[in-house]
Amino acid sequence: MESVHIAHIGEHEGKEVEIRGWLYNKRSSGSVLFLIVRDGTGFIQAVVVKGQVPDGDFAAADRLTQESSLVVRGLVRADRRAPGGYEISVSGVEPVSIAEEYPISLKEHGVDFLMDHRHLWLRTPRQVAIMRVRNEIVKAIRDFLDEREFVLVDAPILTPSACEGTTTLFETDYFDTKAYLTQSGQLYMEAAAMALGKVYCFGPTFRAEKSKTRRHLTEFWMVEPEMAWVDLDGDMKLQEDLVSYVVRRVLERRAKDLATLERDTSKLEKVEPPFPRITYDEACDILRRHGVEFEWGNDFGGGDETILAEEFDRPVFVHRYPTACKAFYMKPDPDRPEVCLSADLLAPEGYGEIIGGGQRIDDPDLLARRIEEHRLPAEAYRWYMDLRRYGSVPHSGFGLGIERTVAWICGLEHVRETIPFPRLLNRIYP
Ligand code: 4AD
Ligand code: MG
Repeated sequence: MESVHIAHIGEHEGKEVEIRGWLYNKRSSGSVLFLIVRDGTGFIQAVVVKGQVPDGDFAAADRLTQESSLVVRGLVRADRRAPGGYEISVSGVEPVSIAEEYPISLKEHGVDFLMDHRHLWLRTPRQVAIMRVRNEIVKAIRDFLDEREFVLVDAPILTPSACEGTTTLFETDYFDTKAYLTQSGQLYMEAAAMALGKVYCFGPTFRAEKSKTRRHLTEFWMVEPEMAWVDLDGDMKLQEDLVSYVVRRVLERRAKDLATLERDTSKLEKVEPPFPRITYDEACDILRRHGVEFEWGNDFGGGDETILAEEFDRPVFVHRYPTACKAFYMKPDPDRPEVCLSADLLAPEGYGEIIGGGQRIDDPDLLARRIEEHRLPAEAYRWYMDLRRYGSVPHSGFGLGIERTVAWICGLEHVRETIPFPRLLNRIYP
């Protein structure tokens, strides 16, 4: 008998199959047992009728506890009332491992309890749907960049220097010296772009951020494209094409998961290029119109970003932030050096900044000055300075945060559900 996955059950209608999985739930009406079986690819009801299976199998099925592992065999029948459209008329049940009393019941649990049991929480339908959407998003990003001939270049995790400011570094001993967990692969991608033209890295990044918001993790994944000979305009163009491509792919391929998550997809359908572009100054005006007392020069907070995003029905670029509130590598606008050629992309529906990027300083003297002004140790950036000494060119790039993107596309309240094992200010278990 063929062992099959629930996701493909429809291809086996009218045939006897075997499914290997776990018991999600069980109902009984005396002589009939309704087993909801999950196998990672889906859920299906398996109906066990006394007299139609060996007596021993019926008794064994009756003793199955939630999350016990099992093998069921039976006939695949189409059933319009069944959630997936099919049901199994069981001919045999074989328990594999009887689960102890399962801590996560089908009722509501508090967040701390669920987070402590993240290794088990991952089995529930919502979490399974989120992980599948995350996988689709990652795959879509890679396909998009591959199609445009970007080369994947892996950036190091252990680094001698800061990319995004020295206040959020995780420090570690590195033999007789110190190292930091990377905050961003960008500086290395700038080197790689001078070697290969269009490149990207995709990996975990770390920020010792003392923020306890629904948008912050201490370990998160970022995709960071970098392009030689591209300015801020071209940078934003790539971003809007990428984000639209990813949203379309999830709508096309993960509709079932979005339905599990009860996502209002009409909002996602609107995500098409071009995205609106406003300057930081225009953003300040919008905030003031909403009664926010906002001082020019500050960075936006989460609440400010929500107000700005609500003005638009698709993601919005805010470009030309004050140079002083951005990272040391941002190129000043030649027409107005107090602002820089940076852009943040704000997601709709209050999900905030999902991309940060911009054009990099290409002038060696200015870069050296900035490294000094930001009190960064020149020695650690000597190699980075070399990129301006040997054939400097205009170049741009950006970093898209995977977890915030997943939170937005799935419509989740908090980024903690977007990553299999979240690392937060007060959490490193499990
Ligand atoms: O804006 P950020 O700090 O930009 C950089 O790191 C650049 N070096 C990227 C580049 O140009 N190559 O971070 C980029 C994105 C943010 O827009 C956000 O989506 C995500 O990374 N991010 C976080 N996500 C979760 N938790 C955190 N603590 C995050 N910090 C940034
Ligand atoms: Mg940013």
